[in-house]
Amino acid sequence: MKTIRSLFATACLAVGFLAGGNAQDNAVVSAGLALTPPMGWNSWNKFGCNVSEDMIKGMADAVLKSGMKDAGYVYVNIDDCWQVSRDDKGDIVADPQRFPHGMKAVGDYIHSLGLKFGVYSDAGSKTCAGRPGGLGHEYQDAIQYAAWGVDYLKYDWCHTSTQDAQSSYANIRAALDASGRPIVLSICEWGTAKPWLWGKQVGGNLWRTTGDIQDRWGGQQKWPDGSCCSNGVLAILDQQLGLPSYAGPGHWNDPDMLEVGNGGMNDTEYRSHFSLWAILAAPLIAGNDLRNMRPGIHDILTNKEVIAVDQDAAGHEGERVATHGDLEVWSKQLDDGGRAVVLLNRGGAEQEIAARWEDLGYPAGLSASVRDLWEHKDLGKVSGKFSARVPSHGVVMVTVKP
Ligand code: GLA
Repeated sequence: MKTIRSLFATACLAVGFLAGGNAQDNAVVSAGLALTPPMGWNSWNKFGCNVSEDMIKGMADAVLKSGMKDAGYVYVNIDDCWQVSRDDKGDIVADPQRFPHGMKAVGDYIHSLGLKFGVYSDAGSKTCAGRPGGLGHEYQDAIQYAAWGVDYLKYDWCHTSTQDAQSSYANIRAALDASGRPIVLSICEWGTAKPWLWGKQVGGNLWRTTGDIQDRWGGQQKWPDGSCCSNGVLAILDQQLGLPSYAGPGHWNDPDMLEVGNGGMNDTEYRSHFSLWAILAAPLIAGNDLRNMRPGIHDILTNKEVIAVDQDAAGHEGERVATHGDLEVWSKQLDDGGRAVVLLNRGGAEQEIAARWEDLGYPAGLSASVRDLWEHKDLGKVSGKFSARVPSHGVVMVTVKP
């Protein structure tokens, strides 16, 4: 058996060599990235196109000063609008007014703080904000990104005409790997071509499962131009059903970046948003202004017990295990055999919600320790079920450990 396997491996290497390709070797470059869901900050949700060197550096400082780095946030990602044109060699040009020292200087600064640097581009001819896209320049851009010290690329899907999503993303992954630098690939295709079915295979580390999030609790709404649709937290949540089996270490479903602290929801709702993203093993990419956070917002984003659920080494995505009208129970299997549980009240009034052990995959008679991850309190040993009163639009989040 061993001999057959090693013969096969030798044959594969030989074929690769003869073909002049080293895609296999290149893929090793990005192996082992994002073994837990990426954590960081991104400019889009709060700042849109209003990005600049000063703001990004200030935000990187704030990641440190606010304790976000200590809580696990590491990527500082510039979204759309850093780029303005291509030069006569076809190289991408950063906005010289907004980034007067160029992108490498920004990357160097971020790295000097022990953080990692992310940028954004698009698989099509233009980005969603109409800036130059990556189409036809994948390898050229990848070399440029590597030279700037880029660690994370979010690759969008605007202006892609008849392009095939799977091969477009495979192409940029191959280009990134050929640069020799390990770069996380964030596929931003909005779920249209079901990227959970092929994202891992093409070397994506995370893939958006939906259209854009908006800083809102409720469902879907049309954009001002009449196109469909922006998603509130609950609309995004409902689009994650059926997807957990596609997530795991190195390859995650991405229900979009966090809106915590951007002002459109109250703190109860932001706690729910954050807890649910953690149960979903979602990338935790903050999208608020970290330079002047209220203590309430800071405490949500840096709750290490909730973050530990998101970052659990086994990499299971949680799922909804019980529904009673507006009341839901979500459960995530943890590495130590325990469960993280979110009791979610979507309704307009406080309600009691129970998580039954059978719904968590435990025998009813099992005695298990319950700990409240927002109160930071052990609630003792319980059998059969755990019940709590949950405020309107709120959650109670616990771990249950046999
Ligand atoms: C798309 C993406 C967003 C953001 C914008 C930038 O809408 O889904 O997350 O990157 O483009 O233009």
